[in-house]
Amino acid sequence: MLKDKVAVITGAARGIGKEIALKLAGQGAKIVICDVNENELKNAQKDIAKLGVEVMMSVVDVSSFQQVTEFINNVLDKFERIDILINNAGITRDKLLLRMEEKDWDSVLSINLKGAFNLIKAVSRPMLKQKGGVIVNMASIIGLMGNPGQANYAASKAGLIALTKTVAKELGSKGVRANAIAPGYIKTQMTDALSDTVKEAMLKMIPLGELGTTNDIANLALFLCSPQSRYITGQVIQVDGGMLM
Ligand SMILES: NC(=O)c1ccc[n+]([C@@H]2O[C@H](COP(=O)([O-])OP(=O)(O)OC[C@H]3O[C@@H](n4cnc5c(N)ncnc54)[C@H](O)[C@@H]3O)[C@@H](O)[C@H]2O)c1
Repeated sequence: MLKDKVAVITGAARGIGKEIALKLAGQGAKIVICDVNENELKNAQKDIAKLGVEVMMSVVDVSSFQQVTEFINNVLDKFERIDILINNAGITRDKLLLRMEEKDWDSVLSINLKGAFNLIKAVSRPMLKQKGGVIVNMASIIGLMGNPGQANYAASKAGLIALTKTVAKELGSKGVRANAIAPGYIKTQMTDALSDTVKEAMLKMIPLGELGTTNDIANLALFLCSPQSRYITGQVIQVDGGMLM
């Protein structure tokens, strides 16, 4: 379905990003993955290469405008186009507002929100030249509902949703679509780090009664990257077992 398409996925060394990379590779896309975690990134590259597609990896901190610009230039030198961008890299630095420090706010906003801006800025010109492209931003239901202890994270994901809608409006007439995925509670290393009390409380809020999997998110990412979603842009789609409705 995605043969010869070039897909860039950020934060793809593990978790949701890696799963999306594997899913798109399974449909024949050429894969470019970046992350700050070099060791896990190398493992991800090996796993993706087993599917028989070309894979490029690069250690990139998405919050650095300069690193991202150089990275995207290298991708264009190698593949000459970018069809798909998945802004997935993200972190949490949870603390109640009274205890949250300036660095907690700055690091989360600069990776989760500015990071996406950096990538979108770098790929938008090539996508406009190609007269087409797809951008998928990994938001969160927390960006829609807020959450105690996550002022920085919630604000970054709400910002990412507004960025998605703006990009969809600015680039839609040029054939570029932008959508956001808002996962609920998905089993990854990010959520493994939560305390048992928080985990139990969250489970009680999920009508489908279980955590989501990285595959649940990757299935939607694939749909949003495929021609089957050609008339869908500017949307925020929840994958949350009914947690927020
Ligand atoms: N797991 C969930 O329940 C859940 C829910 C909602 C949203 N999300 C979002 O999904 C995305 C992926 O989450 P995950 O659960 O797979 O987390 P994860 O921690 O397993 O993976 C995130 C990846 O991003 C990388 N990363 C961190 N900082 C980076 C930077 N500056 N530059 C490049 N890469 C960087 C990490 O090294 C890691 O490999 C995140 O944006 C997260 O906010 C996750």
